[in-house]
Amino acid sequence: MYNKDWAKVDINTVPNIITEVPGPKSKEYHDRASQYMKGYSSQVRLFPVAFESGKGCVLSDVDGNDYIDFSSGIYVTGLGHCHPKISEAVALYANKLMNCHDFTTKIKMDLLEKLAEVTQGDLNGIQLYDSGTTAVEAGLRCARAATGKFEFISFWRDFHGKTMGSVSLAMVDSTQGMRAPGFYQAPRPNCYRCPFKLNYPECKCHCVDFIEDVIANETSQQLAAIVLEPIQGWNGSVIPPDEFMPRLRKLCDKYGILLFADEVLTGMARTGKMFCMEHWDTVPDITTIGKGFGNGFPVTAMCISDKYKGVVENISASSSYGGNPMACAAALASLEVIEEENLCERSEHLGNIMLERMKKIKSDHPIVGDVRGKGCLLAIELVKDKRTKEAFEEAGKLVYQKAFEKGLAWVPSKSTLRLSPPLIMEDEMALKGLDIIDEAIGEVERDLL
Ligand SMILES: Cc1ncc(COP(=O)(O)O)c(C=O)c1O
Repeated sequence: MYNKDWAKVDINTVPNIITEVPGPKSKEYHDRASQYMKGYSSQVRLFPVAFESGKGCVLSDVDGNDYIDFSSGIYVTGLGHCHPKISEAVALYANKLMNCHDFTTKIKMDLLEKLAEVTQGDLNGIQLYDSGTTAVEAGLRCARAATGKFEFISFWRDFHGKTMGSVSLAMVDSTQGMRAPGFYQAPRPNCYRCPFKLNYPECKCHCVDFIEDVIANETSQQLAAIVLEPIQGWNGSVIPPDEFMPRLRKLCDKYGILLFADEVLTGMARTGKMFCMEHWDTVPDITTIGKGFGNGFPVTAMCISDKYKGVVENISASSSYGGNPMACAAALASLEVIEEENLCERSEHLGNIMLERMKKIKSDHPIVGDVRGKGCLLAIELVKDKRTKEAFEEAGKLVYQKAFEKGLAWVPSKSTLRLSPPLIMEDEMALKGLDIIDEAIGEVERDLL
C-alpha cells in the first residue's frame, strides 16, 4: 500500500514564505561559502537559497521558509526527503560498518539479488559506484571490452555526466573542446523541434534511418555501442516517438553494436516504470542507474547483460566507495520502498494529473510553447511566439525565480522549466505547485510582452 503518513503535511501550511527570499541568513551563508565554492549550477546561481532540512515533499531554508519541492534534489530524492526506512537503513550501517573496499557484505549480497530481480531482461552483471558518471565510464569500458571495438555514437543534447568519457558523449559547455577520438553524435528525435524539420508521424521516424548515415559517413566501422538517455533529462524531458527505441534495438543488432541505455535520471520509477526502457519493451545490453537509486545516498550501478558480464572482470571495475554498506543499505531500502508503496503506479498517476493541468496552462498562456512528460518527468517550454517557436530564455529565468519566491523549489534549463516532484507527492500539493507556476508565468508575460 502507498503509505504516506510520515510525509503528511497540512496543505494550507505550504508553501510558507515568511521573509524576503533568499532571506538574510541564506544570503550570509551563500556569500561566505561562495568565497571558496566556485562553479555553481544555474539552479543555485539564479536563486542562492541555503537549505536547512527536508521532509517528504517539503524543503525548509535557514530563514524558516518552507517550499514545495518540484526538483527532488535534481531527480534524486524521488521517495521524499529523509524517508524513514532509508534514513534508518543508512544510520544502521553508519554505526556498524561504513566502508570495506569491495569485499562482500550481506547487505551487498541482498542488494545485488534484488537489483538483478528488478532489472530488465538478463542485465545481471553488476558493478556498484558512487556517481552516475563513473557508472557511465564503466559502461563505456565494458562496451569496448565486449566488442573489441572503440567507437561510440550518442545523441545531440543528451547528458551523461562530467568525467572525460561522459563529456565526450555530450556537449556539456563551451570549455569542453573536442570530444575524445572515436565519439560521434547523431541528431536526437525531438518532435517539437525536429532536427530534420519534419512532422511526426509522416517523417516515419527518419531520425533512426539517419543513424545509418552517421555510421557510414562518420565512423570507421569500429562501433562498440550506441549510448542514449531513454528520455532526455537535462534538455527538458524530451520523449522519443514510440517506435524509436525498438527500431534502434534492431539497428544495433543488425550492426553488432551494443545498446547502452543511461537510466541514471530516468530509472527508479521516475517515468512510471522501474526503468524507462520498459515503456517500449526494449532491453538494452548495458544500463546505468543512479540518482533515485539511493534516494540521496550516493550509490549508482552499471548493469550488463549476462552475455557479456565476464568482461567486467577485465576493466578493473572496483572503486573505493562503490557499494559500501551504507550505500547498499540505502539502495536496497529504496528499491523496497518503490515496491511496497507502488511508486511506479503512483508516478504514472501523478504525472498524468500534472500533465492535464499543464495542458491548460499551455492553452492559457501565449509564451508556453510545449508541455510534456512521462510519469513524474515533466517540462514546460517557453517561446516568444508559438508559431516560430523561438526560445524565450529571459522568460525561463524570470518564471523560475518568481515561482521560487512564491515557494516552489524547482529546476530551470534556459527556456525550459523542468518538473520532477517526489513520486510520493499528494495530488493536491502537486496542483498547488502548478498554480504557482501558472501565476508566475502570468506575471512574466505582463512584464515582458
Ligand atoms: C542521464 C545522466 N547520466 C549521468 C549523469 C551523471 O550523474 P552524476 O552527476 O551522479 O555523476 C546524469 C546527471 O545528471 C544524468 O542525468
